[in-house]
Amino acid sequence: MRYHDKLTPTEAPILDIIGKRWSSLAFEPTPLKGEMITSLFEAARWAQSSYNEQPWRYVYASKGDPDREKLESLLAEGNSWAKNAGLLIISFAKKTFAKNGKENRHSLHDLGAASALLTLQATSMGLNSHQMAGFDTAHANEALGVPADFEPGSMIAIGYPADPATLPEALLTREKAPRSRNTQSSFVFQGKWK
Ligand SMILES: Cc1cc2nc3c(=O)[nH]c(=O)nc-3n(C[C@H](O)[C@H](O)[C@H](O)COP(=O)(O)O)c2cc1C
Repeated sequence: MRYHDKLTPTEAPILDIIGKRWSSLAFEPTPLKGEMITSLFEAARWAQSSYNEQPWRYVYASKGDPDREKLESLLAEGNSWAKNAGLLIISFAKKTFAKNGKENRHSLHDLGAASALLTLQATSMGLNSHQMAGFDTAHANEALGVPADFEPGSMIAIGYPADPATLPEALLTREKAPRSRNTQSSFVFQGKWK
């Protein structure tokens, strides 16, 4: 097992790539190649969405990009570890349908689906990923010039995995914690709610 793999105790067989993805904290501060970044967003592009509206938008900055500091400054203090990631992304959902201006009740839903595919693509490329709610959503649009019809979803750190020994003690404990999930029986109901 490489230091960045974690055990995923599944109740039934699943796709390897789903079991391999987990949200790490230790990233090498190395920018990703342009074609890798394009592949990540290509995976998001092929997500399904209500009326094929594709309400997802992504603003990204690689380590060393001129605009990188703007994204980093939006991070909550508790997510400072993400500054090392080769790629930082903020996702946005278009709140209304392009064709008629009506509210798109599924825009965040569909953004989440696209971002899930993006993170799985990252896993398949040997990269780690970590989504975050902990960023300044109140100022994200203004800081990045995003129109008001778009709401921030998550910030996403993506990059090459680093040795967890590079992390401070508290983060190291989190990094090494076993993965956990509710049992299927607590959230799956056949026929009617229990
Ligand atoms: C929308 C979203 C917001 C999250 N926000 C944070 C965050 O601000 N900080 C953090 O350390 N992890 C954050 N996480 C990561 C979750 O804690 C993590 O996905 C969860 O514990 C399950 O672990 P796994 O991704 O390794 O399977 C977030 C995940 C998602 C999907």
